[in-house]
Amino acid sequence: MPNRMPLRHFLQFKDLSRDELNHVFARSAWIKAQFKAYQRYWPLQDRTLVMIFEKASTRTRLSFEAGMQQLGGTAIYLNTRDSQLGRGEPVEDAAQVISRMSDLVMIRTFEQDIIDRFARNSRVPVVNGLTNEYHPCQILADIYTYIEHRGSIQGKTVAWIGDSNNVCNTWLQAAEVLDFNVHVSTPPGYEVEPERAGLYGTDHFEQFADPMDAARDADLVTTDVWTSMGFEAENEERLRDFADWQVDGEMMKAAKADALFMHCLPAHRGEEVAAEVIDGAQSVVWDEAENRLHVQKALMEFLLLGRL
Ligand code: CP
Ligand code: NVA
Repeated sequence: MPNRMPLRHFLQFKDLSRDELNHVFARSAWIKAQFKAYQRYWPLQDRTLVMIFEKASTRTRLSFEAGMQQLGGTAIYLNTRDSQLGRGEPVEDAAQVISRMSDLVMIRTFEQDIIDRFARNSRVPVVNGLTNEYHPCQILADIYTYIEHRGSIQGKTVAWIGDSNNVCNTWLQAAEVLDFNVHVSTPPGYEVEPERAGLYGTDHFEQFADPMDAARDADLVTTDVWTSMGFEAENEERLRDFADWQVDGEMMKAAKADALFMHCLPAHRGEEVAAEVIDGAQSVVWDEAENRLHVQKALMEFLLLGRL
């Protein structure tokens, strides 16, 4: 069955327009409701998703694999250890071959350049399942979760506390596309690099030396691990450098009274977040994790079938 969509990829958040994102969020709600009502919805019958993992995963693998099956398709898992990808086959050659045998490819890897090169040589849509630079599927789920709980995110303030990593960069891109603000506080030496984050400008974010200032009056407070995958060698140093950047109850009090707390997970209680926050009443982390499933089903539907 030919795709109804011209070839599109989701390699970074800004690859979709505001209008397209709103479409995906609306479809996510419909797809979620069908799922909750045990209604079969198989638009991707006979389609095959290949998932390539060069880093570990629980949520991303599970949500893509379960999601593709729930849409009537099949998902195949490849990792670096058990495939020729780990033995030096050029990424361009892998893209040619894998994309001739599948309808959609999801990749979790290291540098963004790897996924960009794969996409340039792919006949089918490629989705970023996390790179060192970005994690667009995560922020799709996070914003959908915000909308479910509080309505539109436009004009709202998100406080990012901690490392200016792949998840932070993606929040910053999302702020430009969907017109909200991000207040970032990182330890010295870990500040946002706008070019690496792929930003058009600096209008939608502000950096704060003191994390309490970043959290003040925020609508949403969010953080992530201090040491991302691939940076394990820096762990000891980061534990020291980030010690004052824990999201705790006091920091949540600086935010708006109805502020939400999000974390992409996996979390380290007692490091980037206090147990009282992640396990507290303002935390929506389980909804956030579940919504990976629903938004990615909507994303796959959009990339393969266009607007339904
Ligand atoms: N948040 C997230 O991407 O989780 P996994 O690393 O478990 O996939
Ligand atoms: N920033 C984290 C996110 C994990 C889902 C990492 O890259 O390891």
